[in-house]
Amino acid sequence: MSVEPRSWLFIPGDSEKKLAKAAHCGADAVIIDLEDSVAASAKADARAMASGYLASASADGPALWVRINPLGSPECLADVAAIVAHSPSGLVLPKCEGPEDVERLGDLIAKAGGGEEIAIHAIATETPRAVFRLSGFAEKPVQRLAALSWGAEDLAAAIGASGNRHADGSFHDLFRQARTMALLAARAAGVQPVDTLHADFRDEEGLRRSSVRARAEGFTGRLAIHPAQVAIINEAFMPTAEEIDWAGRIVAAFAESPDAGTIGIEGKMIDRPHLDQATKLLARAAAFN
Ligand code: COA
Ligand code: MG
Repeated sequence: MSVEPRSWLFIPGDSEKKLAKAAHCGADAVIIDLEDSVAASAKADARAMASGYLASASADGPALWVRINPLGSPECLADVAAIVAHSPSGLVLPKCEGPEDVERLGDLIAKAGGGEEIAIHAIATETPRAVFRLSGFAEKPVQRLAALSWGAEDLAAAIGASGNRHADGSFHDLFRQARTMALLAARAAGVQPVDTLHADFRDEEGLRRSSVRARAEGFTGRLAIHPAQVAIINEAFMPTAEEIDWAGRIVAAFAESPDAGTIGIEGKMIDRPHLDQATKLLARAAAFN
């Protein structure tokens, strides 16, 4: 994946009306869902509708991803076969329990005739076992893996927790820990860390605040469930004007003194890791302009 999406908008695969909006929501990536938002009785229809959508989608729209049903579910193989035939940007793997599951899906994609370019985004904290297996992502590179996100809803159900947030909106410790470990796992694997969705889709201020914070913490994008969340997420995951200005000054200072290891700018010590970060920040800002 060349540019890491800021917003990843879920669209239920059985909703023709919502799918028709996919290209017009402003999302960097769309995830057509065949899993939890689709009733068992509608799985086959959703698969057909998602395939049809991919077959007719224009190439200049958002990156198109499809969330398949979990490995081992009765739907999984049919999902992979139907979707891979239409060359999506990638597949989103729910209930992923470690790098072995990503490899298993990679094998299924290859057996279905999918090329190397079909990537995988793993949702990697949906079961207790999944959280323990996060460390596996630090052990060796995982083929096709492009993004790793975490989920709080299924984990709450799996734990038997009555909820996942306190009255002040902050996550319970268990979910904060899973979130931090998912961020570390993504970075250890060299892939995009994606923050989980903000389920209260009318709470724009809460979404904005938590997204700005997520970027400061190291996430580079976020799952969305409603079109109204997309612009807020896109803005929150862009570098600010001050950051762009500051990064530009760092790059310029090192360009003037290419042999310097450390430079002082306005009384602050700036060294090579700052230059690296500034270069990445400017590239990301340019990618979305
Ligand atoms: N993608 C595209 N369009 C969407 C959308 C989505 N995810 N969510 C809502 N819309 C559309 C609606 O169809 C509606 O269109 P209209 O104005 O032409 O009627 C418009 O946006 C406003 O929707 P609204 O009435 O505010 O929401 P809703 O009550 O119809 O839907 C949800 C609420 C949560 C059911 C819906 O947002 C949704 O399906 N989200 C995705 C769920 C999902 O995929 N979950 C799996 C991941 S956890
Ligand atoms: Mg789920």
